[in-house]
Amino acid sequence: MFEVRDLRFKNILNIDKAVFNKPTVCLIGPSGCGKSTLLRMLNKMEEPDSGAVFYNELDIRSISAVNLRREVTMLPQTPIVYEGNVRDNLLIGHKLQHRELPSDDKLEEALEQMYLKLKLDQDTARLSGGEKQRLCLARVILLDSPVYLLDEPSAALDPHNEKRILDQIVRWIHDQNKQLIMVTHAVELAQTYAEQLIKMDGGKIE
Ligand SMILES: Nc1ncnc2c1ncn2[C@@H]1O[C@H](COP(=O)(O)OP(=O)(O)OP(=O)(O)O)[C@@H](O)[C@H]1O
Ligand SMILES: [Mg+2]
Repeated sequence: MFEVRDLRFKNILNIDKAVFNKPTVCLIGPSGCGKSTLLRMLNKMEEPDSGAVFYNELDIRSISAVNLRREVTMLPQTPIVYEGNVRDNLLIGHKLQHRELPSDDKLEEALEQMYLKLKLDQDTARLSGGEKQRLCLARVILLDSPVYLLDEPSAALDPHNEKRILDQIVRWIHDQNKQLIMVTHAVELAQTYAEQLIKMDGGKIE
């Protein structure tokens, strides 16, 4: 659960107070209104000029970025696929966090969850944009974090895949008692999924 108070950042964000306390929170609003900036602030990727962000009532300035990101996993708007094969890409998060590596069975399960028919030894260079996006989603799902910040996770997907992938993620978040804060342009889907729908415009929350 997050709360922000008196958050100011350049002329980009100006939020007096917002509480993100539902299992599924969707952030919507026009391009350039500050959605990604706000999401980055929740993960200490960006620091406000003034004001504060609280994670489970703790000011995140008192939590190291490493410790915060162990619990709060962010998938940026432009997800990164690394050179190498599918397995390397799925394991990179665990390697960076020096965690025990999941088995191939687990990796295949995560691919299936994202409806990806890829071989673990397959090179990632020729994957389509939508496949890359789903591969990055599979990677973050494997981290099994309590909180997820997903920035337009379905932007590269066709409507059919967008719906089934978001359905799958939202179901998983509920089943596993996690929290999801998601920026999305899929307003109609957001209205069906979100227990809390936050509309932003011009750096403010409406
Ligand atoms: N660190 C920064 N310094 C200066 N300007 C920035 C910084 N980060 C973002 N901006 C600007 O702030 C505005 C909001 O950017 P942001 O990426 O948060 O928008 P967004 O709502 O996510 O848009 P989109 O839907 O297109 O992804 C944009 O005009 C952007 O150029
Ligand atoms: Mg954005």
